[in-house]
Amino acid sequence: MSNTRVPLKARQVSFAWDRTPLHWLPGDPFATHTINVLHLLLPAGERWFVHVYKQVLPLIEDERLRADVIGFIGQEAMHAQAHDEVLPHLKELGLDPTPYTAQVDWFFEKLLGDRTLPPGKARRWWLMERVALIAAIEHYTAFLGNWVLNADELDRRGADPTMLDLLRWHGAEEVEHRSVAFELFEHLDGGYRRRVRTWATAFTALVFLWQRGARFFMENDPTLLDGKATFKEFHRGGKQGVLPSTGAMVRSIPRYLSRGYHPSQEGDTAQAVAYLAASPAATAAEARTGAAR
Ligand SMILES: [Fe+2]
Ligand SMILES: [Fe+2]
Repeated sequence: MSNTRVPLKARQVSFAWDRTPLHWLPGDPFATHTINVLHLLLPAGERWFVHVYKQVLPLIEDERLRADVIGFIGQEAMHAQAHDEVLPHLKELGLDPTPYTAQVDWFFEKLLGDRTLPPGKARRWWLMERVALIAAIEHYTAFLGNWVLNADELDRRGADPTMLDLLRWHGAEEVEHRSVAFELFEHLDGGYRRRVRTWATAFTALVFLWQRGARFFMENDPTLLDGKATFKEFHRGGKQGVLPSTGAMVRSIPRYLSRGYHPSQEGDTAQAVAYLAASPAATAAEARTGAAR
């Protein structure tokens, strides 16, 4: 059953952050903050996914795909909320993320938001461009989800269990729904040139926003005298297994650009489902939902 399709449902998780230290990966502020960039990008990014997909729903002519997209919307809305809830805790620990999140909000809401376009070709073009961008970004969320589910080095180094559960619950749902965005793009458009073009845009934007976010955290961390984010450090984290490796990231590029690409070739649904069945946050959510029934 490693890649059997599963019905998608949002799990109403919640996390208590009061015991999570600033450097939740002990002794490695750089890897901590590089992963923390997720909390900066995902709330705005995933709400943008939801906003775009709500516009796309009426265009879907396949009932199964429509159900998948509705499940995807529910999951992404919950992911955005869960990462958003980490930010006040970072602020309490002396690291106010607001200056950076304001830039990210502008990026998704204004630059990638709805433009005042007349109904017709131009409006459809911009919608399809964004559907393709989401498919490209989801290639990376699945890549990261698969990575974090297998990043045993984080456990060995004593990473904070609440943060690990947030990352793995989210990562497991990314692996679970990894085919939806690509299948939606294929259903509505599927143009190869558009796939390549939007991949290049998404990849460049992700690298740009990520390195700026890591730099922002390192430079504003109140416990670091001269915090810096460098590619050398990123490469070191990858080699040690506390960040994705540079090689694995480079190898993921031709896979997405291959004409035979399908996200089901990435990651392992059985592993994701097994994690969700054991995740403290997901099982607590399940118990609450069961009690409310
Ligand atoms: Fe997500
Ligand atoms: Fe996703």
